[in-house]
Amino acid sequence: QSSPVILGIETSCDDTGAAVVDADGNILGEALHSQLQIHLEHGGIIPPIARDLHHKHIQGIVNMALERSQCELKDLSAIATTVKPGLPLSLSVGLKYSKQLVKETSKPFIPIHHMEAHALTARMVHNIEFPFLVLLASGGHCQLAIVRNVDDFLLLGSTLDDAPGEAFDKIARRLKLRNIPALSTVGGGQAIETLAKEGNSQAFNFPTPLSKYRDCNFSFAGLKFRAYKIITAEEKKHDIIGDLILPNVADICASFQHAIANHIVKRVHRALLFCELEELLPVNKKVLVVSGGVACNHYIRAVLKLVCDHIDFELVCPPPKLCTDNGIMIAWNGIERYKAGIGIAENLDEVDIQAK
Ligand code: KG4
Ligand code: ZN
Repeated sequence: QSSPVILGIETSCDDTGAAVVDADGNILGEALHSQLQIHLEHGGIIPPIARDLHHKHIQGIVNMALERSQCELKDLSAIATTVKPGLPLSLSVGLKYSKQLVKETSKPFIPIHHMEAHALTARMVHNIEFPFLVLLASGGHCQLAIVRNVDDFLLLGSTLDDAPGEAFDKIARRLKLRNIPALSTVGGGQAIETLAKEGNSQAFNFPTPLSKYRDCNFSFAGLKFRAYKIITAEEKKHDIIGDLILPNVADICASFQHAIANHIVKRVHRALLFCELEELLPVNKKVLVVSGGVACNHYIRAVLKLVCDHIDFELVCPPPKLCTDNGIMIAWNGIERYKAGIGIAENLDEVDIQAK
């Protein structure tokens, strides 16, 4: 048996992704269709629209990934597909398509947990041993966990309300950043990061969420509501109506991004200290992996780097393309499971999607 090669398929949210990856982490072929533009026009993801777009593109995306990899279906060792967590309508498209493909090819099927895939991607591009600490921050999640093995995650904390990417997206919408031509096609987090570079991060005060709670959970709803309040007050002050943009929008973006970064870093710092105290990580190589769409943010990366340097942790961020949703991370998780001899579904008919 030659080295395993796996096709990964991702449809948990608003990206239709497929990729063929080998056991050494070589990306043999990949393809991605993002629904971002359509969802930006609707002011957010509307699940039936997401489902229809996955349905429209999945065949083409899988074919493209296979063609680019110069592999044929018969060359695959297995097919791996996201089955949880995510939007049920979106997940269903990927699973239904995959089941059909598995039946036609008689290949083994490996159901994948989307968040585990985000966490393990770092091992595809960096030499990281278990256990390590991971922060996953995206449009739907914020979690801190110790990754003890391919299928063994110890959850230390998660968000009690919004996800950070969701807060970025909502504030970007409230600030009407899509009306700024240079930012009209990028997501909310990226738009805020871009404007924040020209703003003063101390211009507006934000509270520190959960400061009384000695745990590793997160909360972003309070920061979001504070931002709404600031924006409404500033609009009043500057007589802003309709599609007009606030003159001090960059200051609001910089202050909001700083508040989000500050909260994330404080909670991560707690987790790092906890891991040290309890000796949960190898003494000679303590690694923090940061992934998910929000991990693309350079400001957040920079503050995390400061904390990691301070207490002798190595910070590992996969390249931005691997931080946001894609088929590569699903294929790689398939490889990790295949190599560990776990995760192949015994009965295809029993595999189902799970929202959470
Ligand atoms: O991981 P991802 O592609 O999809 C989810 O599983 O949610 O993450 C998308 C989220 C969006 O909310 C987006 O605004 C955020 O990641 N994001 C960013 C940046 N790039 C993407 N947030 C802050 N700064 C960025 N540069
Ligand atoms: Zn994701």
